[in-house]
Amino acid sequence: MSNQQVLMTAVGSYLPAKVVSNDDLSTFVDTDDTWIRRRTGISQRHIVAEGETTADLAKHAALEALANAKLTGDDIDIIIVATTTPDNTFPSTASKLQHQLGAKTAIAFDVQAVCAGFIYALDIADAMLQSGRGCRALVVGAESFSKLLDWKDRSTCVLFGDGAGAVILETSQDSADWGIRSSVLHSDGAYRDILYVDGGPSINGKVGHVRMEGKEVFRHAVEKLAEVMDEALVAAKMSFEDIDWFVPHQANIRIIDAMQKKMGLASDRVVRTVDKHANTSAASIPLALATAINDGRIQNGNVVAMEAIGGGLVWGAALVKFGRPALT
Ligand code: ACO
Repeated sequence: MSNQQVLMTAVGSYLPAKVVSNDDLSTFVDTDDTWIRRRTGISQRHIVAEGETTADLAKHAALEALANAKLTGDDIDIIIVATTTPDNTFPSTASKLQHQLGAKTAIAFDVQAVCAGFIYALDIADAMLQSGRGCRALVVGAESFSKLLDWKDRSTCVLFGDGAGAVILETSQDSADWGIRSSVLHSDGAYRDILYVDGGPSINGKVGHVRMEGKEVFRHAVEKLAEVMDEALVAAKMSFEDIDWFVPHQANIRIIDAMQKKMGLASDRVVRTVDKHANTSAASIPLALATAINDGRIQNGNVVAMEAIGGGLVWGAALVKFGRPALT
């Protein structure tokens, strides 16, 4: 085992300018603000403008993360974009981002694990950096999820939003106990038909729309997220008391609150952005992380617990001691 650590040193985020409230939605679909708030905790979502793409969102978030880390594209060896809503079927959104950032020597690829995409991408980047594939990685979660919605289906169209978040990962030889302390991933394709998109290149050549059995997904979410968080804690040799901040996937306030109670955490240790962002799939965790770092809640050296579940089913959790130790 090497004593090399993979640090998370900076974050960035971006939300499209257009805000759509619950009342806005109720003008064209049979829903209302009270139902959406009570069942989901969502009050608004950001939606991309005409012509604005997932790569555009990713670029804004990535540039902010690079600036916060005092780096440029040239410094990055690996770019991973977690997205289910790429600009094109191919090439990857990460390739486009690599060009936009001028990250000439970086390798770049997308990861598709829907709402768990950020945790998957973090795990992959950590493993690649640990194995010597480079010194710095840019991991982005970016989605134009509004492009996958059936705006006549009230059971899904009220739940999602668009946005992007990015983190910089850097290797360090002398930062014991800092950085990514553990990450755990799971998949179970037996449940692929409770949350899916009814289109794709080899199915019907269409982009398709999100279809979901909400109650079933909810049931699996509470059960599987609790289990995987336990696994991540065991892998990191940590306990719930070691967690400073819980930054869960922002799908539904009821899932987040159920997890908070199971973990025995104080409510003010949980970062909740679902009210303002709705479910931005792979972007939701890095967006929430950036929100709490920018407003000063998450500080250098805090231990952050993250978890997510998405269509597949795929799910995972990660524990990170954010930032880097002070120079002595
Ligand atoms: N407005 C008003 N009424 C609605 C709406 C709406 N937007 N949507 C559904 N309803 C109605 C239903 O028609 C139903 O009416 P009925 O009782 O007359 O039949 C009633 O509200 C209850 O509907 P349910 O679907 O049973 O509501 P539930 O309490 O399960 O909440 C929800 C639905 C919010 C989707 C919830 O199940 C949920 O959050 N599930 C998990 C979603 C999730 O975590 N996804 C994460 C992964 S996402 C990814 O990977 C892309």
